Amino acid sequence: MVFAGEWNTIYAANRHLSVWPWSELVALVMRHARPGEATAQLRVLELGVGAGANIPFFASIGADFWGIDGSSVIIERLREAYPELADHFLVADFVADWPLDGRFDLIVDRGSLTHNTGADIARTLAQAKARLADGGLIVAVDLFSSAFDEYASGEPTEDHYTRCNFQRGRLAGTGLAHFADEDRIRSLFADFEIELLEHKSFRRHVPDDGSQFAAWNVVARSGKAG
Ligand SMILES: C[S@@+](CC[C@H](N)C(=O)[O-])C[C@H]1O[C@@H](n2cnc3c(N)ncnc32)[C@H](O)[C@@H]1O
Repeated sequence: MVFAGEWNTIYAANRHLSVWPWSELVALVMRHARPGEATAQLRVLELGVGAGANIPFFASIGADFWGIDGSSVIIERLREAYPELADHFLVADFVADWPLDGRFDLIVDRGSLTHNTGADIARTLAQAKARLADGGLIVAVDLFSSAFDEYASGEPTEDHYTRCNFQRGRLAGTGLAHFADEDRIRSLFADFEIELLEHKSFRRHVPDDGSQFAAWNVVARSGKAG
């Protein structure tokens, strides 16, 4: 599927403009990529870089940071906010061939892969594997779980795990989203060595609306290129 552009509408309306680093992503990168011990600069790609919440963290560890996003609106804003990285931000559908040279030590995703169909996530992960350096890492945070209650609020698609047209709630206006159970996550990452697979769920008690967010975090390593 070609990147649909719902996110341009969202960003133009000043929604989803997260600008604080996602603490889980920071913790997983520090624990598994161990940037403090790396002798060379880490080359990092963020899939769906959005408003750039994770950029200050990667700047603080001296990474060579690159970001892809399908939204031209948000990439334009990022280029204004970080002029020194302007040519490191690309408007592109990450399911298609990445318009980037070379390989990466670390590929990160926070809440972006999960807004694609299962087939497109699989295609993107295959490309990620091919574009990771030997032993490189992918860190994916917030791959929605089938236990996330928004699964029930979306309309079904031909892919059992993917729902679309969320009218209200946290996913309103985001187009489509993929909700995985453990088998699905393991099969999506079957070509990687999974170093960490964790499931989290948050049930809201106050206000007592009974809502439940649930998602997976995955840290997976690419083996040696064959
Ligand atoms: C929830 S936002 C996450 C932004 C950022 N990673 C963060 O943690 O704040 C999802 C982002 O993924 C991007 N995205 C989703 N699917 C995409 C695709 N196939 N190609 C390019 N960008 C995509 C959207 O444009 C949006 O900016």
